[in-house]
Amino acid sequence: MKRSDAESLAANMNNRKVQQYLNMTIDPYTAEHARKWINQTHRLAREDRGYHFGIQPASMDEAVGCIGLKNLNRESLNVELGYWIGERYWKQGLMTEAVSLILGFVFDTLKFHRVYAIVHSGNLGSVRLLEKSHFVREGIYREAHRTGSKWHDVYFYGLLKREWKDTQSKPR
Ligand SMILES: CC(C)(COP(=O)(O)OP(=O)(O)OC[C@H]1O[C@@H](n2cnc3c(N)ncnc32)[C@H](O)[C@@H]1OP(=O)(O)O)[C@@H](O)C(=O)NCCC(=O)NCCS
Repeated sequence: MKRSDAESLAANMNNRKVQQYLNMTIDPYTAEHARKWINQTHRLAREDRGYHFGIQPASMDEAVGCIGLKNLNRESLNVELGYWIGERYWKQGLMTEAVSLILGFVFDTLKFHRVYAIVHSGNLGSVRLLEKSHFVREGIYREAHRTGSKWHDVYFYGLLKREWKDTQSKPR
């Protein structure tokens, strides 16, 4: 991500629908929040503790979302995936493309063994995205999340390097 992405990232993150499944409630989410976060992602990358990439539609000059790796475990070679994109860009296949690209980075470049994602069961877009990207639902934390008076299950999804390699040799 570029520091000049801050305004665009803030405009897209300043949305309850984008924040709700990221367990965030920053209202308003400002360019200053985005600047701090971009600086933090740069620091994480310098320290080899996290890698975050801006998602920029081909027709634009600024990022409108982000995909990133955190909780890098160098012993087990496991890493956690997270992502978000501005609401006006949903359902255009952008995150499917971003996930496909980052998986090459996870397995071929960084040589991890397994990548996982933790998803609120009500997040139908994220569930579909992961299943479409060949992640396997490995487990359910029952009623592990609460919004107001309602409890929600949380899904754990994972993808192993060998499973990913298999998908590379087969057409979708
Ligand atoms: C989840 C999210 C990243 C999906 O991004 P996206 O760019 O819309 O994803 P894609 O366009 O690549 O779509 C992937 C699949 O999910 C489906 N999908 C996307 N949003 C959906 C929704 N709200 N409900 C049902 N299906 C949805 C798409 O139709 C597509 O499936 P298909 O190819 O069978 O039609 C996006 O909605 C988002 O940023 N949400 C807020 C933040 C968030 O929830 N992050 C993830 C936390 S785990």
